[in-house]
Amino acid sequence: MFNFDFYNPTRIVFGKETVAKIDSLIPENARVLVLYGGTSAERTGTLAEVRQALGQRTVYEFGGIEPNPTFETLSEAVALVRAKNIDFLLAVGGGSVIDGTKFVASAAHFEGEDTWQILEAWGSNITKAVPFGVVLTLPATGSEMNSAAVITRSATKTKALLSNPLVFPQFSVLDPTKTFTLPARQLANGVVDAFVHTVEQYLTYPVDARVQDRYAEGLLQTLIEIGPKVVGEPTDYDSRANLMWTATQALNGLIGAGVPQDWASHFIGHELTAIHEIDHGRTLAIVLPSIMDLRRNNKRAKLLQYAHRVWNITEGDDDSRIDQAIQKTREFFEELGVKTRLSDYGMTEKDIEPIIEQLIKHGMTKLGEHQDITPEISRQILKASL
Ligand code: NZQ
Ligand code: ZN
Repeated sequence: MFNFDFYNPTRIVFGKETVAKIDSLIPENARVLVLYGGTSAERTGTLAEVRQALGQRTVYEFGGIEPNPTFETLSEAVALVRAKNIDFLLAVGGGSVIDGTKFVASAAHFEGEDTWQILEAWGSNITKAVPFGVVLTLPATGSEMNSAAVITRSATKTKALLSNPLVFPQFSVLDPTKTFTLPARQLANGVVDAFVHTVEQYLTYPVDARVQDRYAEGLLQTLIEIGPKVVGEPTDYDSRANLMWTATQALNGLIGAGVPQDWASHFIGHELTAIHEIDHGRTLAIVLPSIMDLRRNNKRAKLLQYAHRVWNITEGDDDSRIDQAIQKTREFFEELGVKTRLSDYGMTEKDIEPIIEQLIKHGMTKLGEHQDITPEISRQILKASL
């Protein structure tokens, strides 16, 4: 096992009808900015619950944070925070709103001239952030209990990452009933995103990290068990509760502590979203099966462990068991209604080169747990995903 330093200060308040608890989690005299996305938070009544819970506090609101939140929109929120002396932020939404709030929290105190520099430095230049909490409405990204955010600059179609311990949420309220209003597409995306987060930290090479391995396998098996129910049964509380807690733990640092990590599916997927606006979860379902296939030699030991322990595959020689595991993974995504081929999204071979160009432009030329996925290998991965 590698050395590690695990830190996670986020308080989790979990369960039915827990939104009202934000009253006791936010300072009484706070000047609060509530940030949300499009229309869902208002439509579902969550914003009304939040307003009521905030009571007599001074409250401002900022709506319109889009899926794959943009630097351009968020910069308006930064200006509002500065103008109104806001000292607490509350994100009400999914990964996009939470990520956007992390950027706003750090940009409001940024002393440089151009807040995009935060993304250029991957968040390492953040020195202070406005404290914030979360009311989660979409289980998927794990952003509610981690210190990372992905922000898009629309002008250049750049999806960039920031990460800094100063942007851990102070608390996150996880009420599984908030997922009842989600469309099947977003639920399926959430299952796939949590699944691939786990895989990115598990399917690399063995370092005898037994707890992390078995924890990851438990998360994967849970997602396989509940996935179809989550997508097919609109108000099944138990499967939603299990999804919410699984997705949070898939990316709160615990399973990634002390183990090698991959993230190639994510970095290639980010370019697919930036150029073609394919939902984040869907990009992962497209790229992951090809990565498993083409990287089978580097990942052989863990692929065999994955086949055996996650899918109970015991018949056939090594390569056949790996083939079966890849097939099972693809079928699982498809069963959730998530298509796994670039061609399913209208893309053809001519669309591949612009993605490779963007990967190079963004410095994504040494991906994977061995930093050996070059642009040429990314090209092969995308061709295999057609
Ligand atoms: O905008 P509104 O109207 O609110 O609708 C949203 C949005 O259209 C809707 N929605 C959310 N909660 C709802 C709901 N609709 C009905 N009922 C509800 N309860 O869902 C749509 C998608 O929301 P979004 O927040 O974009 O989805 P998700 O949570 O999948 O977040 C995706 C973003 O997170 C980033 C992705 O890159 C992408 O930008 N990621 C962040 C990570 C992190 N911070 O650690 C890691 C991930 O790998 C990922 O990259
Ligand atoms: Zn993801």
